[in-house]
Amino acid sequence: MIALDLTREAAREVLPPGVLPSLELGPLALALATWRGRMENEHASSLVFAGLLGQAVEAGASARDQADLAQMILEEQHHARRCAAMLKALGGEPVGRLPPVRPLPRHEDTTRRLAYFRNLLSVCCLSETVAVALIDAERLALEGAVPGQVLKEILADEVGHARFGWRTLEAAGLTAEELADLDRYLQTALPHLVAHELAHLSPLPVPTEALAEAGVCDGALARDVFWSTVEEVIVPSLKKLGLSANRNVSRHAHA
Ligand SMILES: [Fe+2]
Ligand SMILES: [Fe+2]
Repeated sequence: MIALDLTREAAREVLPPGVLPSLELGPLALALATWRGRMENEHASSLVFAGLLGQAVEAGASARDQADLAQMILEEQHHARRCAAMLKALGGEPVGRLPPVRPLPRHEDTTRRLAYFRNLLSVCCLSETVAVALIDAERLALEGAVPGQVLKEILADEVGHARFGWRTLEAAGLTAEELADLDRYLQTALPHLVAHELAHLSPLPVPTEALAEAGVCDGALARDVFWSTVEEVIVPSLKKLGLSANRNVSRHAHA
């Protein structure tokens, strides 16, 4: 595991004014772990976009799209710094470990354009769309508090990341063959998304109000938000693109 130390970066970040809840030792440890986990994941996301940028270049994406992806690398690093600042404000050390970041699949069985589109579908249309919904739900629960403000800043960028994916695929003029390829790809990508998200969302609700105010998420609510996003946003958006999205991914199958 690679160490991640954002101590210097956190010191330069200014958090919005407001009151942070004072927590007892146990809840504080949980709040610190939540923000440390966010910091680590956000920084790891920047590496995912770095990989996607390389594939966009190989696929002959427009200079504009390449610049947008480069911007997303910076935005994810900025999110990590904001989380590091929250960690510091709560009395923690903005130090952690990068989760293992596997390089994006090369998809050597297909064209560079489709390889890029498969990963764009997975990263932006699936993962980032879920991130938008989850962060938005957490932010709403924290309205007016410092942690909510930080999540709001992050959310604005995540919306852009998800939209980039949907917009790019919509404008790509996908052929029937390409749509069929992406449809086949979704047969693995969608169940993978479900397995990944369910493995990372705690099924337990946040135990106390003070913890919720510190930005610890409600796992039961998060699971509900996740399934609603799949059913009400992702599947209809896939259909709009011309993908059948007729997958056996329902909350009932995972109840
Ligand atoms: Fe992010
Ligand atoms: Fe993002």
